[in-house]
Amino acid sequence: MILPGSTIGILGGGQLGRMLAQAAQTMGYRVHVYEPQKDCPAGAVSNREINAAYTDIESLSAFARDCDVVTYEFENIPVEPLAQIAGLTQLHPRSEVLKICQNRLREKTWLRKNEFPHVPFVDVDTNGDLSAAIDSIGFPCVVKTADFGYDGKGQLKVTDEESNALAVKQYVGQRSVVERFISFQCELSVVVSRSSNGEVKAFPVSENIHTNHILDFSIVPARISEEIKVKAEQLGLAMAERMDVVGLIAVELFVTTGGELLVNEMAPRPHNSGHYTLDACRVSQFEQHIRAICGLPLGDPAVNSPVVMVNILGDTWFNEDESKTPAWHTILENPTGKLHLYGKAEARIGRKMGHFTVCASSADQALTAARELKSKL
Ligand SMILES: Nc1ncnc2c1ncn2[C@@H]1O[C@H](COP(=O)(O)OP(=O)(O)OP(=O)(O)O)[C@@H](O)[C@H]1O
Ligand SMILES: [Mg+2]
Repeated sequence: MILPGSTIGILGGGQLGRMLAQAAQTMGYRVHVYEPQKDCPAGAVSNREINAAYTDIESLSAFARDCDVVTYEFENIPVEPLAQIAGLTQLHPRSEVLKICQNRLREKTWLRKNEFPHVPFVDVDTNGDLSAAIDSIGFPCVVKTADFGYDGKGQLKVTDEESNALAVKQYVGQRSVVERFISFQCELSVVVSRSSNGEVKAFPVSENIHTNHILDFSIVPARISEEIKVKAEQLGLAMAERMDVVGLIAVELFVTTGGELLVNEMAPRPHNSGHYTLDACRVSQFEQHIRAICGLPLGDPAVNSPVVMVNILGDTWFNEDESKTPAWHTILENPTGKLHLYGKAEARIGRKMGHFTVCASSADQALTAARELKSKL
């Protein structure tokens, strides 16, 4: 067990690292953050911020030696340097987990090999035949780059010959996957924690609404049957065990129009759709991750109230051509409204600046309130 007073290292200094640091400090840990860019959101709330490249083995090794355990909040960290520091400290989740989850092809191949339900796909090599792959999946399908995808970046939907030609031009020489476009009833996610002592717990399943491929609303409880919820939780728990994860793993799922559950992707870290846990659960996903990597007993993930989380993007700062300060008082005046801002200096279109939550007596009511608050920001 790594007890309070010890030092936790976080690789990556974004908002997920910030909320992890806050949870760790609440429990009396010291926190060191390693992030290439200075003045990062997590650095502002940590005991120490180190700014160096992830490939700078010397800095990374010194960082690892100063920490009792190291974790990460960012998926696009190169795995080789991580594997090299693994002997200097404890690293959770292990680097092999990151390696699988950070690359769409390895991720999907892992799902197929381990027989977890997933979206049918075809792998396209750098010099492979994208046209043939699109042909074999058929229209409509989605082409995705194997590496560095987030918030829908690196994705193209192919519905006809025209978009087919565009895809072939755009993805030439890139390792990618072609997958079937799923017409879904809804999207779900489940955040699962697994402790170094083997204990596992799942947070309540969240229903997620994306706008322009970016998470917009997370709704809990998800408005689906109990049977699907239980299935999603069981899937998440089984995946955490099969992958031998210590920490959190978030699983994104589609519920098809036929009622089938398909895994879309996984993230071995706290997840945007789990932010609701900060305000509506006895233990947040961030605290649970800290407990898990430190080998402490896991907390009770039960939710206290129906809740909706809304992402606040940089777009909120712009009104037609003018910039403005969002009307924070609208959230703060709501008796259940909770505002979280990540301390990012510059608002940019599509950039995640913060989020808010609102609770109500049902998921539908919370969603209505959330939409109204969002529109008034
Ligand atoms: N095969 C598909 N069929 C239907 N919709 C899809 C498909 N793939 C992706 N989408 C839509 O695009 C969204 C983003 O896709 P995905 O999760 O694969 O991308 P990402 O760029 O890795 O995003 P992030 O890591 O931010 O979740 C999905 O949540 C879903 O709404
Ligand atoms: Mg996703």
